[in-house]
Amino acid sequence: MGLNLIFLGPPGVGKGTQAEAVSAHFLVPKLSTGDLLREGVAKGTPLGKEAKAYMDRGELVPDPIIMGLVRDRLAGTNCREGFLFDGFPRTVPQADQLAALLESMEQSLNRVVCFVLSREEIVRRLSGRRNCPRCQAVFHVESRPPKQEGQCDKCGTALVQRNDDQPETVEARLIVYENQTAPLIQYYKNQNVLSELDASGPIQAVQERLMALLSSL
Ligand code: AP5
Repeated sequence: MGLNLIFLGPPGVGKGTQAEAVSAHFLVPKLSTGDLLREGVAKGTPLGKEAKAYMDRGELVPDPIIMGLVRDRLAGTNCREGFLFDGFPRTVPQADQLAALLESMEQSLNRVVCFVLSREEIVRRLSGRRNCPRCQAVFHVESRPPKQEGQCDKCGTALVQRNDDQPETVEARLIVYENQTAPLIQYYKNQNVLSELDASGPIQAVQERLMALLSSL
């Protein structure tokens, strides 16, 4: 059976950054619903067009759209290596449907890692984030600056700030997280699969803490 992990936590806490490293280290495919949605928006697919309005307001994209995306992504894979879900599930119905999906694939969850960070630091991380619109690489003006200012290290494309990283939208996303996603902490505690991770400090320090936790599984 593969390693099936969920990275849970508020926006900007560093889930995506750590998911890259864990996916490469354990050779587990990463499935980020945020990345899949942004790909759809960039390509102008019907799904992307529908999702964009919700994302720009900082609201969650409706569950049926998300579950369709996840099912498409999982279809045809043998799941031997498992999956690292980043930013999914985000509501109790999504979590229930993921459980049913994993069961149908004779898989189960190994661990849900909940990233914990102060609100002040979350806002600092989001306000300095810069993204590559082409390859989705993520930078930060202070903590992970690109080699050439404003340019992606991987593909040279000009970096942008995500629409939903504007201060008003960040506020909205944090409220949405508290109301709709935070209940999943208790949900997974009840299943004895939740571990909290102190997400403060430099990227490397968080990575070491996370690797130690995952290696002990
Ligand atoms: P999504 O893309 O999933 O956004 P999110 O959960 O809000 O998470 P972020 O990508 O903002 O943050 P992150 O925790 O990955 O942090 P990162 O590593 O980038 O979702 C976007 C939208 O899509 C949602 O609002 C919703 O509309 C929709 N959506 C997606 N999934 C959905 C679902 N399942 N259901 C419904 N709707 C859905 O780090 C942040 C910054 O900090 C970066 O600049 C990074 O370089 C820097 N950084 C990282 N770690 C550190 C560190 N230790 N020290 C200093 N800086 C750091």
